[in-house]
This record gives sequence, C-alpha cells and structure tokens, in this order.
Amino acid sequence: MNTNSPNRIQVSAPATVANLVCGFDVLGMALNEPTDIMEIAFNDLGILRISHTDGYDLPTDPEKNVAGAALLALMAELEGKTGFDLSITKNIKPGSGLGSSAASSAGAVAAANMLLGNRFSKYDLIRFAMNGEKVASGVKHADNITPCLLGGVTLIRAIHPLDIVQLDAPPLFVTVVHPQIEVRTSDARQILRKEVQLKSAIKQWGNIAGLVAGFLKHDYDLIGRSLEDVIIEPVRSILIPGFNIVKSRCLEAGALGGGISGSGPSIFMLNKEESTARDVETIMKDVYSSLGIDFKTYVTTLNREGVQLIKSE
Ligand code: HSE
Repeated sequence: MNTNSPNRIQVSAPATVANLVCGFDVLGMALNEPTDIMEIAFNDLGILRISHTDGYDLPTDPEKNVAGAALLALMAELEGKTGFDLSITKNIKPGSGLGSSAASSAGAVAAANMLLGNRFSKYDLIRFAMNGEKVASGVKHADNITPCLLGGVTLIRAIHPLDIVQLDAPPLFVTVVHPQIEVRTSDARQILRKEVQLKSAIKQWGNIAGLVAGFLKHDYDLIGRSLEDVIIEPVRSILIPGFNIVKSRCLEAGALGGGISGSGPSIFMLNKEESTARDVETIMKDVYSSLGIDFKTYVTTLNREGVQLIKSE
C-alpha cells in the first residue's frame, strides 16, 4: 500500500431491528446500542483469516463465518491476490434478533471497503453482505444489513435487482428486551405459513404504507397505529414466552408500538419520549423477572449513521 492509504481500519457496526413489525423482510432500523467492533488489516498471504475476541465460539473458517462469507464475496471481485486479517468483537449476541449476523457481515465489508479506498458502492456492499445472511439463515435478506450499513430506517423495495430507499424518521427512543432463550432464524422462518389470506395481506400492506408515511411525516400516532402485524407475529410470538403480556403492558404504559425484533427472541418498543422508554424497560424487566427467564435490556435511540469508522492507521 502507498503510505497515504490506511493499513488497518477499526469500525463499529450497529444492532438493527428488522421487519419493524409489519414489514417482514422489507423494513429495518439501526440502533445506537449495542454495537460490534471489528478491525481489518491487509495481509501478504492473499487469504482471509478471522479471529474473535469474544466468548461466542463462532466459526473462524471463512466459508462458515458470516463475516467471512461476505468478505469472500468482496474478495472475488478484487483483481490480484488481496488478503485480509479480520478481528471481530461481538457485543450483539448471536441469535438475539438484533441483527448480529448482519453487523458482522456489513461491518466486515464496510471496513474492507474503507481499506480499499471506497472502491465499492453501497449496493455492492449490501450484495456482498447478503452472503453472510445466507450462511446465517439460509436466505439472502437485506433488512438488517441495509440499516446496519447506512443507518436510519430503510426500505428494501426489492432485492432482485436491489432497490433500497432510506427513509427519514423522527427522533425515537427504542426499548429492547432480549430474553436469554434461543430462537434460530432458520427455525423462525421455517414455521411461517407459505400462503397468506387476501384480507390479511390487505391489512398488512395498509400498515406498511402507514408506517412508511408515519416515518416520513414524523407522525408518531400514525407510526403507532401502523405497528401491527397480522401475518408473522401471531405465528412467531408463540416461541417467545411473555411476549403478549410484555406487549400489552408496554402499550398501556404509552409506547407507540412494537413487537418481535427480527426473528426474535428480542422484543422492541418504539417510544416518543425517553421517560416512556424507561417505563417500558421497567415493565420488561418486571415480566421476565417474574417468569424467571434471564434477560438483557437496552434503552437506546435510532442510529442514523450505520457502520462508523473508529480508527484508521
Ligand atoms: N426478516 C428476517 C426475518 C430478519 O424475520 O426472518 C431475520 O433477522
């Protein structure tokens, strides 16, 4: 590398809430907490080497690792033999429903792209990172990757060919509870019905349109009214003990609305005020303490930046 180009890049990659209740596989939002940290550097070997500094025991074989699969897709489009050393520190627990695999994939390709002087477009990076989602869940979906890379609220209008829309949104406080149970995305997709009743579809697309309009108009009431899912939530919520009671008590406490984060088991609530977000957190703690299920909670805000450079050397 010439002396002006960095040899090592450190980035943060945010957690994300995919689906945003009604928008299965098409809507997503980035959060300011938690975030993964990753560091990438060139190596002279022309290969990809992955290490982890967390205790999650994730695979280091690049083909079995979500960040590895994403980076291998990027490397396949580089001329010559460029090798990378990637070190990942995960703070977003795998299997939480908070876009852990997307943070690894999106963070890795965004960091590599910074090392490479930004030669790839955001569309390319999403395309590469979707290979990581395929390893994680068996399906290429972009509703975690896109907000993770770009920040804010994003709409995936289509993935073939990729057509994404970044949506404006008003300030939002987001409360999340992550009950420490395992729900695998592949299982949570497997149990879904393959066909949808027309009357359910009509409700669902009304809600998606309402939610998008609510974000764009900064209309909190419309956002709240549109956070309804008549297709996916009734099936998946059965996998999450305490879901119905958490949701109904949080709505009573003044949350705008919410539901399953991604494929679960985390549950998120959007709030207009921080004080409501804190009340909602208390309710979530209360429910899971009384159920005797370990949990972790976050009160955070909408992340508008996506993957961020921390350090470049
Ligand atoms: N849209 C995906 C799903 C997100 O709900 O299966 C998985 O994190």
